[in-house]
Amino acid sequence: MCGIIGILGKAPVTPLLVEALKRLEYRGYDSAGVATLVNGHIERRRAEGKLVNLEARLVKEPLPGIIGIGHTRWATHGKPSERNAHPIATDRVAIVHNGIIENFQELKDELLAEGRRFESDTDTEVVAQLLTSYLEHQMSPEEAMGNAMGHLRGAFALVALFSGRHDILMGARRGSSLAVGYGDGEMYIGTDALALAPFTSRVSYLEDDDWVVLKTDGATVYQGTQKVKRPIKKSGLSGALMGKGNHQHFMLKEIHEQPAVIGDTLHSYLDPATRSVRLPAMPLDWSKVSRVTMTACGTAFYACMVAKYWFEKLARMPVEIEVASEFRYREPPLPEGGVCIAVSQSGETIDTLEALRYAQSQKQTLLSVVNVPESAIARLSHVVLLTQAGPEIGVASTKAFTTQLIVLLAAAIAAGRARGTLSREEEERLALAMIELPARVNETLNMEEDYRRIAENTLAAARDVLYIGRGSSFPVALEGALKLKELSYIHAEGYAGGEMKHGPIALIDDAVPVVVVAPTDAIFDKIASNFEQVRARGGRLVLLSDKAGVARLGAKAETSIMVPDIDPIVAPILYTVAVQLLAYYTALAKGTDIDQPRNLAKSVTVE
Ligand code: F6R
Repeated sequence: MCGIIGILGKAPVTPLLVEALKRLEYRGYDSAGVATLVNGHIERRRAEGKLVNLEARLVKEPLPGIIGIGHTRWATHGKPSERNAHPIATDRVAIVHNGIIENFQELKDELLAEGRRFESDTDTEVVAQLLTSYLEHQMSPEEAMGNAMGHLRGAFALVALFSGRHDILMGARRGSSLAVGYGDGEMYIGTDALALAPFTSRVSYLEDDDWVVLKTDGATVYQGTQKVKRPIKKSGLSGALMGKGNHQHFMLKEIHEQPAVIGDTLHSYLDPATRSVRLPAMPLDWSKVSRVTMTACGTAFYACMVAKYWFEKLARMPVEIEVASEFRYREPPLPEGGVCIAVSQSGETIDTLEALRYAQSQKQTLLSVVNVPESAIARLSHVVLLTQAGPEIGVASTKAFTTQLIVLLAAAIAAGRARGTLSREEEERLALAMIELPARVNETLNMEEDYRRIAENTLAAARDVLYIGRGSSFPVALEGALKLKELSYIHAEGYAGGEMKHGPIALIDDAVPVVVVAPTDAIFDKIASNFEQVRARGGRLVLLSDKAGVARLGAKAETSIMVPDIDPIVAPILYTVAVQLLAYYTALAKGTDIDQPRNLAKSVTVE
């Protein structure tokens, strides 16, 4: 979601602002803009749509200035348009903002009553108008920002540029991420270290309710009126613009990175010599944990669904899984001695963050599985289990999901060991199955053309597609359907195979492909029955199974793909790669925007 950058520089900043915005593109956006000070006055260039539109605008109307701010906007209040694009400005201040000002209507009414005129439909404009009102009442920018923080409700990150003040930029955060970059006589502020990487590797992360004053010689951070210190850390991120390598899309590149990143993640959580899992030291004893609650959104929630099977089977633990956006509003009682596991690629998803905060209020031990070590969710957690997926740029999660599964399986095995529900031999067998995964994923990727063929011949022309699976393949069916709908805009649903006869089977006709996720596991016979029920009604079956499964059902399917044989416990990871490829090639055949599907954002920082 929205990306923010601010630069207090020595040379013209507009090209640098645009470069940083390109690095934030992955977050998803529908308009963009920059503002600088020209002879002390705020000047802006904004454009609806992608950054190329803004760049074209800047070619026609260049923007000089050595201090400036930039933004990619994902619309919340007010449709995507140039008028609503950030920076939002008055003649005194320009603002870029990520998040939602929840009390904007109340503030707007007060500001309208003062006689102020609003130009946009955004909630952001109340911040610009509020600061302007304070400045007109003779407050300094510092006093204005400190005061405004007391009046704004909601989750936000914002950066402000003041007319006539070439010497300062100011930022504030509550909920949404904001990082300060330290240069040599230059200062930077942006959504994340990735945006700042071309300029500096010295970064500090603001905490909730911090507001900051940037000057050329450094930054002063405040909480209320108190000065606070935030440590400067060295970011290891590369300043080079991330490329797609030989791949047409980031998503395809990231699908192909899976053997490597699964290997890297295994390296952190598994000792191949002893064939045992190793987790970092934790302030918890799995044998005493009363219950595990897992919470996440979207694809990450499906990781929790798979992990529920693993924790229940391997560690015999009671596990609840909760969609994060619903969890905290139900206010469920959580038992003493419980663990809450939040799963999130970005570590910034506001619903997941708030769900974790709720678990904190219920005195749970907080554990997170994240891909970004400095993220808000990581910082709130007692224990952080990092995935080693590397930056994920494609909006649709791929390698983050499969590495989340690796981490969660390692945790379930560690819990099983601690609780005495998993023998040493079993742990070794599972470790071996995990070690085998990168090679099996590679084999799957070598069969890409088969997936492309099914995508082009069977899925791309469909209006609706169903995915079914049983046991731990059920979440894979859900993930396959989610990937297909978000990338190709084809309506798709995932069902537990046994549920078909309770309703969805009414949808079956010769126009609805049904993708059956069916590794030969303990309940293969059950999914085979569901397969037959669809077939008996003339359904078009796409079978994803292994050698034995294809031998048994392949001839009865419209088309099938043989997924490499693998231990059923890790099958969800391998079959996920299969459904990713189906979705990718279907979207490719349809010509949709694969890396940035319409209406979607990578890091969902609003509720
Ligand atoms: C779908 C997808 C999303 C995310 C969800 C949570 O392909 O990527 O459903 O999984 O928005 O995001 P994180 O993992 O960053 O919390």
